[in-house]
Amino acid sequence: MKEVGYGIVGLGNIGPIHAQCVNAIKGARLVAVCDTRAELARDFAKQYGGTPYTDLAEILKHPGLHAVSLCVPSGLRADLAEKVARAGKHVMSEKPLEITTARVDRILRACEKSGVMLGCIFQYRFAEAAQHLRKALDQGRFGKLVLGDAYIKWYRSQAYYDSGAWRGTWKLDGGGALMNQGIHQIDLLQWFMGPVKSVYARIATVAHERIEVEDLATVMLEFENGAHGVIEGSTAIYPGHPARVEIHGTQGSAVIEDGKLVFWDFVKKRVEDKKIVAAMKGESELGTGAGDPLKGLKIEGHRRQIEDFVRAIRTGRPPAIDGREGRKAIALIEAIYKSAKSGRTIQVK
Ligand SMILES: NC(=O)c1ccc[n+]([C@@H]2O[C@H](COP(=O)([O-])OP(=O)(O)OC[C@H]3O[C@@H](n4cnc5c(N)ncnc54)[C@H](O)[C@@H]3O)[C@@H](O)[C@H]2O)c1
Repeated sequence: MKEVGYGIVGLGNIGPIHAQCVNAIKGARLVAVCDTRAELARDFAKQYGGTPYTDLAEILKHPGLHAVSLCVPSGLRADLAEKVARAGKHVMSEKPLEITTARVDRILRACEKSGVMLGCIFQYRFAEAAQHLRKALDQGRFGKLVLGDAYIKWYRSQAYYDSGAWRGTWKLDGGGALMNQGIHQIDLLQWFMGPVKSVYARIATVAHERIEVEDLATVMLEFENGAHGVIEGSTAIYPGHPARVEIHGTQGSAVIEDGKLVFWDFVKKRVEDKKIVAAMKGESELGTGAGDPLKGLKIEGHRRQIEDFVRAIRTGRPPAIDGREGRKAIALIEAIYKSAKSGRTIQVK
């Protein structure tokens, strides 16, 4: 395929980032966009290109449409993805892929049945820092893994939760500080450390009104490889701090903040370490969501991931983060919520 005809469904906060990425990628063209809000769809098409639609069934008939980014509220994705897959279009989902593993499995089945590709946005995996860390793990540089931690001490104003009826609801947001915000670092943590065996968690709503979900969570983890860890997540901490993932082993440690390395040291040094440490001084190439969902976010992570997805479609190889990868963080957060609700340690399946 020479050029992937690309569509975006859901044109709110994150939709424009997808549009900018598609417009920046060779081998893809934004051909159609869709939002139930007609005026938004029209203005969006004027600014970024593509034909505007207000109905999913209509955009799916657009000639030359091959792939669709689903940027709608999280708990709507299974219903929409099933229709997109049935129409034979490839699906790129924003995170979280859906809000429960049962609903994720509906998407997996639909895409497998139709033979279309499924990708899930986790842009922080595409940070150079994350790639260095994953490579060092593959090379065994950390020795035996001992501790793996994720800290997401973020701030979301009351106005943020009030800005959409779906925000902060179990039905459509699927959770709070963990399912919506912390999921990026939770994904990184399990990608680096391997599967989690069990969790023990507490969650609470301490600072926001009119939300059902947690704005504070503390979690103890045991990984299948015997390492321990913690997750601390909140959207109640002003002004919001860089999201941090720490990986510690008997032979080395590395720490990432907002997709940027801030610590890197191993018993056995390598020549490439000098370059890696020198790059630690610059700014985060991906930006941060610490205090606001979008103000600090740069498009580079999304651009790399959507470029990978487009290349996957054009060459027939799987995308770097497919549906099964996207499912893992949701299974983990589901177990965390189950533990918090029951007061028991929960085995992660
Ligand atoms: N990767 C990231 O860093 C990142 C950042 C922000 C949001 N997100 C994710 O993106 C998703 C959307 O979040 P948002 O903040 O952009 O939400 P939003 O409410 O700003 O935008 C969602 C849009 O979807 C539209 N919509 C709803 N139902 C629709 C339907 N059936 N058909 C077409 N359009 C429909 C709404 O009108 C709205 O414009 C969420 O799942 C969120 O977790 C990811």
